[in-house]
Amino acid sequence: MRIFDEAKKEMVFEDSIKYWNSGKTREWLDLGIDLIMGKREGYYFYDLDGKKLMDVHINGGTYSLGHRNPEVIQALIEGTTQCDIGNHHFPSVVKAALAKELANVSPEGVSHVIYASGGGEAIDLALKSARNSTGRKKIISIQSCYHGHTGLAVTAGDSRFSKIFLTEGNSEDSVKVPFNDIEAMEEALSKNDAACVIMETIPATYGFPMPKEGYLPAVKALCEKYGALYIADEVQTGLMRSGSMWAITGYGVIPDIIVTSKGFSGGVYPIAAVIMNEKASNWIREDGSAHMSTFGGSELGCIVALKVLEILQRPETIKNVKFVSEYLREGLEKIKAENKDFFVEIRQNGTIMGLKFNGDKSGISVMQHLYNEGVWAIYSMLDNSVVQFKPGILCTKEYCDELLEKMAKGIKSAAEEAASKVKVV
Ligand SMILES: Cc1ncc(COP(=O)(O)O)c(C=O)c1O
Repeated sequence: MRIFDEAKKEMVFEDSIKYWNSGKTREWLDLGIDLIMGKREGYYFYDLDGKKLMDVHINGGTYSLGHRNPEVIQALIEGTTQCDIGNHHFPSVVKAALAKELANVSPEGVSHVIYASGGGEAIDLALKSARNSTGRKKIISIQSCYHGHTGLAVTAGDSRFSKIFLTEGNSEDSVKVPFNDIEAMEEALSKNDAACVIMETIPATYGFPMPKEGYLPAVKALCEKYGALYIADEVQTGLMRSGSMWAITGYGVIPDIIVTSKGFSGGVYPIAAVIMNEKASNWIREDGSAHMSTFGGSELGCIVALKVLEILQRPETIKNVKFVSEYLREGLEKIKAENKDFFVEIRQNGTIMGLKFNGDKSGISVMQHLYNEGVWAIYSMLDNSVVQFKPGILCTKEYCDELLEKMAKGIKSAAEEAASKVKVV
């Protein structure tokens, strides 16, 4: 079946508006992003009309190893010759092997693994685990944070996504404090009634603000002082994107729970995992059937994730993360210097990057201009002045050079447009 050869873009838009998600389809069209994904390979993908795009959104890290990474695809194909989803009630060869490998790549003692089919589901499970472990209900999270759209995850997140479904957290069970404000965190924790603090190590949807020196270890110390668990949402920041398997350990913190998803799937087979220490995983021993998910830890997903972890740990992969991080930083600094009134900040930890521009909606404008130049990077939904810049960790020098050239053009034209608007006003 040739999926893309016969498809007509107008028809796909029409059907999407009629039968899929009209609001979302229109939202992109209104922003001038008339995109239907067609063929894809490595860190490129094509619009159905043939427009070639360099992918530095990579769906939040999902394609960190590239679109249709050949080794990952091969693992999946070979997996299908013997396995299917499996049966979520039983232990299995690949489920056990992947759990053992996750324990191996996580800090000592963070070694009990339960699977999920996606990030939100895994976050819900992490929060439930903290509640069971502490016998407390309250969840402390960060203002403007994002952990997905499932029940507890959406409640813990910004009201942008919970209000519409009447799922906003009430003040008793859900407390939100500003990021990087340790006094506010202590104030929230000092009531001795919180089950956990949940945090993205670097909050992506909020524009990748970097944690202040000492902030994350101080939060962990407060959690210990007041009997709450620390949940590290590593859905976007984990899997070697910082140069370490988990970004949180680079800040000297050993969390009680780590959540991973997105790139864990190799971009080809959905899977997520919650990795817990002894304390956080109490419910497993109390009642192992207390949480279940038919597709969570599907055997094909486990096979793919095992291959992902293998690729991530290769010395050449780790070396390339360093190269991509440094090389792109150098190039972006030049672009920033050329547009200094507009391009105001580069936020970075390894290949986790946020580019901040002048003006409330400037990130949206930069996204549009980059799109015109053939680069796909998305703005941060909870801080529209930031563009999320997430290069793949296997990018080559040639790719980086092409990307920087296009970034320079796109940012320059966005800066010129912003300057012309100021003059008119
Ligand atoms: C930090 C973070 N946590 C959790 C999630 C939820 O993952 P999913 O969309 O797979 O439910 C996301 C998704 O973007 C995320 O960025």
